[in-house]
Amino acid sequence: MTTEPLLSVRDLLVVHPGRGRRAAPVRAVDGVSFDLAAGETLALIGESGCGKSSTASAVLQLRRPDAGRVRFDGQELTTLDEPALRRVRPLIQPVFQDPYGSLSPRLRVRDAIAEPLRVHGSRDRAEDRRRVAELLDLVGLDAALGDRLPHELSGGQCQRVGIARALVGGPRLLVLDEPVSALDPSVRSGVLNLLTDLQDRLGLAYLLICHDLALVRHVAHRIAVMRSGRIVESGPARGVCEDPADPYTRELLAYARTGDRQAQADRRVKVR
Ligand SMILES: Nc1ncnc2c1ncn2[C@@H]1O[C@H](COP(=O)(O)OP(=O)(O)OP(=O)(O)O)[C@@H](O)[C@H]1O
Ligand SMILES: [Mg+2]
Repeated sequence: MTTEPLLSVRDLLVVHPGRGRRAAPVRAVDGVSFDLAAGETLALIGESGCGKSSTASAVLQLRRPDAGRVRFDGQELTTLDEPALRRVRPLIQPVFQDPYGSLSPRLRVRDAIAEPLRVHGSRDRAEDRRRVAELLDLVGLDAALGDRLPHELSGGQCQRVGIARALVGGPRLLVLDEPVSALDPSVRSGVLNLLTDLQDRLGLAYLLICHDLALVRHVAHRIAVMRSGRIVESGPARGVCEDPADPYTRELLAYARTGDRQAQADRRVKVR
């Protein structure tokens, strides 16, 4: 018996209008296909502008793709109307790069985390409070931080709030777009380790977007390398890192080596 992947992306196409009056349209994502199983991490890597975030927003249906299929948990998302999509959204949640920008500056942490519950019609404030306390604990934050505003948190704490908020509706897939790139290097591994712990505990699947191969090679099960809107190589993380087939992957690896030595020296990134 073959089990269907949790997420199946086929021939994804995202064309952005050119910037400037006579600029040609940009095929930011040009025929991307991949599968992601429940509980698995696929890292999507590649240099700036190769189309990683465009892929993420098309998978999340934040920006409808121009062509292609996005099948999630047996449902084709590209043909769903907005009300139907709203019902799916709690299950497939984004976490973005800028931890402060993803939170409303005037919402206290506990309200920021509870907001999606209220949007989805929760009327039971006591139950919401209990759920928020549970989530703060799950992401390794002290309950007292619930009273703070985003600017009273560190970047790492703020990103943990963003993760708690993404978890509130019981997702099965997180689309993590450079979740640690904006953080101080000293707190990056803590957040990455939190993500692997959460994956083990909750069985989450991750589409982990990153431009830094050194950061993801220990946390991803599989790696897909993207260049100019296309996937040039993909496979098990170890295979891609130890025996890269594509010259571009070799370039990325050479570039990543310095950063990787750093991570190893820190001994803070858990190796799967
Ligand atoms: N809203 C937009 N309008 C026009 N062009 C866009 C838009 N968003 C992205 N692009 C272009 O599409 C291409 C892919 O951009 P995208 O943001 O997906 O890349 P990325 O891999 O996420 O890059 P980075 O690592 O810098 O985040 C780039 O050439 C970019 O300039
Ligand atoms: Mg991006």
